[in-house]
Amino acid sequence: MEEKRELYADLKDEMLLTKEEIAKRVKEMGRQITEDFKNRDLTVICILKGAVVFFVDLIREIDLPMTMDFMAISSYGNATKSSGVVRILKDLDKPINGKDVLIVEDIVDSGMTLSFLKENLLSRGAASLHIATLLDKPARRRTPLTVDYFGFTIPDEFVVGYGLDYAEKYRNLPDIGVLRPEIYE
Ligand code: IMP
Ligand code: MG
Repeated sequence: MEEKRELYADLKDEMLLTKEEIAKRVKEMGRQITEDFKNRDLTVICILKGAVVFFVDLIREIDLPMTMDFMAISSYGNATKSSGVVRILKDLDKPINGKDVLIVEDIVDSGMTLSFLKENLLSRGAASLHIATLLDKPARRRTPLTVDYFGFTIPDEFVVGYGLDYAEKYRNLPDIGVLRPEIYE
C-alpha cells in the first residue's frame, strides 16, 4: 500500500493479505474447482454478505456452466464472536435437489455457521455438497467440519476487508487487515 487511505486508519499497519495475494490464490482455487466439477450440475451459493466479494471473483475463475444463488445468515450481531445461534435472513430462490452444491463463505471461525448450513442444505436433497472458504481460523473451531477448498489459514485475530466486516463496515477494503483491538474493545 503506497499511501495510507482513510479506510485503513482503523487497521494495524501491516496488511495480513494484499489484494494481489488474494487474487493469485482465488485464481488457483477457481482452477481446482473447474477440474473437480466437470460434467456436474453445479450451483454456487454465496453466503451474504461477507462472501460477496470473494464470490464475484471466484465464479469468474470457474470455467464451467453453473448457476448461482444467495443466502443470508446471521450468527453475530455486532459482536466479534459467534453467538452460536444461526438464523436464515434470506433463503435460496430455487430448490437445490439433485444439484452439486458449492457453498462459498468468507471465513470459518468456530465452524457453527457452516455446520448448520451443511446440514440444512443436505436435508433439501442436494446431490453433493462442498465448501469453499477464503479464510480459515482453525484455532477457534468448536465443531468438526470438513472444508473442501480454502484460501488461507490465518491466526486468531479479527480481520476485515474483501467482504469481511466489523459492524457492517470495512467490507469495501480491497486488502485484508487486522482490526485494531481498541476499535471493538
Ligand atoms: P463461525 O460460525 O464462528 O464459523 O463464524 C463464521 C462467520 O463469522 C463468518 O461468516 C463471518 O461473517 C464471521 N467472522 C468470523 N471471524 C471473523 C473475522 O475475523 N472478521 C470478520 N468476520 C468474521
Ligand atoms: Mg459471514
